[in-house]
Amino acid sequence: MPTGRRALRLAPSLLSADFGALGAAVAEAEAGGADAFHLDVMDGHFVPNLSFGPALVAAVRARTRLPLDVHLMIDEPLQYLEAFHRAGGSTLVFHLESRSPPDAVIRAAHDLGAEVGAAIKPETPFSAAEPYVERVDQVLVMSVHPGFSGQKFLPEVLPKVAAARARLDALGTGGDLSIDGGVTAETAPAAAAAGATFFVCGNSVFAGGPVGDNLRRLRAAVQEGARGAVR
Ligand code: DX5
Ligand code: ZN
Repeated sequence: MPTGRRALRLAPSLLSADFGALGAAVAEAEAGGADAFHLDVMDGHFVPNLSFGPALVAAVRARTRLPLDVHLMIDEPLQYLEAFHRAGGSTLVFHLESRSPPDAVIRAAHDLGAEVGAAIKPETPFSAAEPYVERVDQVLVMSVHPGFSGQKFLPEVLPKVAAARARLDALGTGGDLSIDGGVTAETAPAAAAAGATFFVCGNSVFAGGPVGDNLRRLRAAVQEGARGAVR
């Protein structure tokens, strides 16, 4: 893992794109300056919604060279790591509230050659993630209750982002600190100021207006927030 803080990156969440024209959405976002894509996998158990599986990840993989951030909102991530890795997932993000033992998930993902991320829901304290921070490539703090795009950002998670930032900086691991849910040009600056480096954006990219313009506005917002941060 590289040391030092990672660059600020924008990851459009394809859950908010038009599934009937997904290839075009991927191309438009890549041309518009996306740094990665975020793919939300839901099993109807861990969250009250269903989305898609490895076949869709593979279809996206065939259309872009950008990293694919696969967010596993499923009860048993350990069982599916290999399938999502084979499908082309770059970072496999599992939830610490899932049923799979975190140590086993981290080891299995790294054995496959994938990056691994540990995610926490809004109500889960940072202390649940703290023991794993040193061994993962990404910590993902959810800023909405997982399950649906288009929800309102929960500012009460910002102290957790700051706590994760402090720990990552102290360790010097250079892992990503991801914020996911309700990230817009209005909410992104505070997340960037708290230390997030990886911004998952669904509706703010795909739910209206030209995708390239939306990404430019989001990038300006995260840069402004990061500049304003007191370090
Ligand atoms: C929610 C997902 C998010 C969501 C983001 O369960 O994990 O990635 O799709 O969409 P917005 O940015 O619209 O909240
Ligand atoms: Zn997500």
